[in-house]
Order: sequence, then C-alpha cells, then structure tokens
Amino acid sequence: MSQNRRKFIKNAAISAGGIGMFSILPSSVWGANIAPSDQINVALIGCRNHGFNILRHHLNNEGVNCVALCDVDENVLHERAKDVKEAYGQNPKLYRDFRKLLEQQDIDAVIIGTPDHWHCLIFVYACQAGKDIYVEKPLANTIGECDIMVRAANHYSRVVQVGQQQRSNEGFNETMEIIKSGDIGRLRKVNIWANFNYGIGATPVEDSSVPEGVDYDFWLGPAPKRPFNRARFHGSWRHFWDYGGGLFSDWGVHLIDMGLWSDDLLGGPERVITYAGNNSNQTGMRDTFDTMNVTYPKKNYVINFDMNGGVQEGPWGKPYGVAFIGDKGTMVADRAGYKLYPEYDNNTESHKTAARSLSNISDAHDHHVRNFLDCIQSREPPRCTPEMGYAAAVHAHIANISGRVGEHLLEWDDENMRFTNSEKANEYIIPEYRKPWKLPEV
Ligand SMILES: NC(=O)c1ccc[n+]([C@@H]2O[C@H](COP(=O)([O-])OP(=O)(O)OC[C@H]3O[C@@H](n4cnc5c(N)ncnc54)[C@H](O)[C@@H]3O)[C@@H](O)[C@H]2O)c1
Repeated sequence: MSQNRRKFIKNAAISAGGIGMFSILPSSVWGANIAPSDQINVALIGCRNHGFNILRHHLNNEGVNCVALCDVDENVLHERAKDVKEAYGQNPKLYRDFRKLLEQQDIDAVIIGTPDHWHCLIFVYACQAGKDIYVEKPLANTIGECDIMVRAANHYSRVVQVGQQQRSNEGFNETMEIIKSGDIGRLRKVNIWANFNYGIGATPVEDSSVPEGVDYDFWLGPAPKRPFNRARFHGSWRHFWDYGGGLFSDWGVHLIDMGLWSDDLLGGPERVITYAGNNSNQTGMRDTFDTMNVTYPKKNYVINFDMNGGVQEGPWGKPYGVAFIGDKGTMVADRAGYKLYPEYDNNTESHKTAARSLSNISDAHDHHVRNFLDCIQSREPPRCTPEMGYAAAVHAHIANISGRVGEHLLEWDDENMRFTNSEKANEYIIPEYRKPWKLPEV
C-alpha cells in the first residue's frame, strides 16, 4: 500500500466513528499503550485446529497464561479446555460469545483462529477492547475487510502479528538476505507453485441437522444463512466463497508474501492477469477454483503463481515452493530450507555466484509467536504487520475475483480501493454482512 494511502488512512482514522453492533470498552482502555507485566495473558477465539496449535506455541513460553477460550462449538470448547488443563495445568474461562470474552479485563492478547469470514469483526472488536492480536491468515476474506483491519490496528495502536509465519522462517529470512545482497544478480522473476490434494474440496455430503452443541447461526455470523452441511463446516469451509478463498488464498498468501518480501512491496497489485477454472475430474464439494495461473507484473520483476488443487507433485520435486530467478542464479525455497543453483559463465569458466543451501530447518511457528510476545512487551511492530497481511491477501483476493467475474485482466487502484477496468469486480470489494452483524467502521 502506498505511503500516501497509509497517511490518508491514518488521518481518516483519527476522525473515525464507532464500530459494529455494540460498544465494548471505554476509550480509556484501548487508548492505553502500556505493556503488560512479565506475565502475558492470552485468550483463543476459534479453538479447533490451527488456533489451538498457535495457542500451544504461546503456552510453551514461560510467563504466558491461557485465561480464556471461546468457540461456538461447545464440543470443541470443552475438549480444548481439557487439553489446556492436562498439558499446562491451567483453567481458562470458557465463552461461546467472543464479545463477552473481550470484556475480560486481564486478557492482554487474543489469538483469532476462526474461519476467515470472522476475522475482521473479531479483530476490530478486539482492537477496541484494547487487546493485542495474533490473527490467522489470510487477514480477512475480502479486500474491504482487510483495509478496515489495517486502519483499526493503527487507530487503536495495537500490536498485531499476522499468521504468515514464513516471515519468521530461518530459510526464508536467509533467502531474502541473499537476494537483497545481490548474490543471485538482478531478481527477474518469482515463480510460485502450490499443488495440494485438498484443493479440490471436501467429499460431497447431503445437508443434515446441526450437531448438538454447535451454535450454527453464530458460526455463520455475517455470512449468508444456509442449511447445515458438514462439507462446508469445520476445516472444509475454506472451499466456499462465503467463508474462504480456496487453495489460492489459503496457501497463496504465505507464498505471495515471499514474492512481495523479496522487494519489500506493500499494498495491492496494480495489475493482475488470471486464468482460473475447475479443470480437475474430481468432484469435491467447492465453490473455489482448483486450477489457477496468475501473473503479477511488478516494476522490477514479475511474480507468477501456478496452482493445481488435487495434484500433489510439483516443480523441483516439491508440492509447493518459490523459485527466485536472478541473472546469476536461482534460489528455490520452501519451509524446509533453500538451495541456490548458480549460473555458469562460459567465458570465465566459473559459476556466476556460489552454490549454497540450507535444509531441515525447524518449524517457524515458535519464532513467530515468540516475536509476537516480545513485541507485546516492546510495542515494536512484529515481523508480519497488518500491512503485510493486507498486501498478500489483496493479491490473492484479486486473482479470485478475476476468476469469479470471468475477466482475465484486472487493474487495481489501491489508493482509492477500486478496480479501474471492471464494475463487476468492484462489487466484490465490500462484503454484505448478514444482519444483525454490521461491517465495522473505523
Ligand atoms: N498459518 C497457517 O499455516 C495456518 C494453517 C491452518 C489454518 N490457518 C488459518 O487458521 C484459521 C482457522 O483454520 P482452521 O483450519 O483451524 O479451521 P477450523 O474449522 O478447524 O477451526 C475453526 C474453529 O473456529 C470456531 N469458530 C467459528 N466461528 C467462531 C466464532 N465466531 N467465535 C468462536 N469460534 C468460532 C469453529 O467452531 C472451529 O472450532 C483460518 O483463518 C486458517 O486460514 C493458518
């Protein structure tokens, strides 16, 4: 996002109105910018899968306490409460409604581990309640929501870490250092690929009754009312536009983020060229695409993304990865490490750069969470700021919108938050919330 737009947003935020359905805490609370003591109290909203994984990474640090859990599925909530008790000897308060959780005064930070369609509302309420936030990626399910969240984080001066943990991955950090030092020569192209079986959707099932203990209406929240179907619920919601963006936004934001980081780019893309289709023979239940090719032309280089849901093999023998192509060599990186393949110079009969590699590196979640905890204390920006989350998510959402409106080329004005060559695409920027939920205003 351009500096101008950021400045505009900051100024606009100062004269902002209220947000959402309810006001939560007085401004004296969110206005305070005081780091907590040596103890950090965290709460988790959305406990089933990855949110709980992130909570565990928090609790593995000394002085971090789980003081609250919230889920709209009581089965998940009680199971996770038991897990926290058994593994850490702690007894968090339990909530079904995140708004009640946010009233709990001793919470320093919340982890948002819900499906994507909930991120924005919970995030803005948490900002208003004066909590710091670890929000899972993609930042939100629409461009408009991502923009609101960046503004909320700045307006309420919250420390926010977006769950794009590759920013804390040792291999990707070294990769960026090598690229920025000029060791692969001029960066010309970033080729990204993501091939995963799950990208074709869930096994189709009939609609059924809502499982006992699930507040399905609350799970849907701002999304349209629909009959209950297990294939659209826990875990597999990501294949339906109401709640997620398919493989392209799920894995895509992690990988696009690497393409942007290599030149420290923020903001949305100026131009996106997209092919998107459902070309596989497989009949998984989904709205989202299983086959995509997307090109993001940048000033100094080009980012290409090749996605195949339902396919698990990929270039360089990897199901996913990023190849940074420079004049002197190509860096191929994934979460396990990297390898630099140098170009050979026939004139000098030597390689243009030194080969090097790193492998078997450990999971980055620990580092990403530790960085968040440190930033809660220091009030410094964490490794993955909302602006970085915005940039990756908006790149992904625009490609999906392109597929949805059937237009291969979309031109985006990030300053004014609109497409300049498609009115149809403009209809996808701001989501329509189902009542009584209201899109937050900041
Ligand atoms: N960073 C990563 O590598 C990574 C990996 C996996 C998932 N994720 C992200 O984590 C998030 C969660 O994904 P998941 O796979 O764990 O989903 P999931 O469906 O397994 O779990 C989501 C949980 O949120 C609960 N929930 C839904 N609405 C709620 C609400 N309003 N209040 C409280 N609880 C609510 C659900 O009942 C469920 O227990 C997504 O944004 C996803 O993209 C990130």
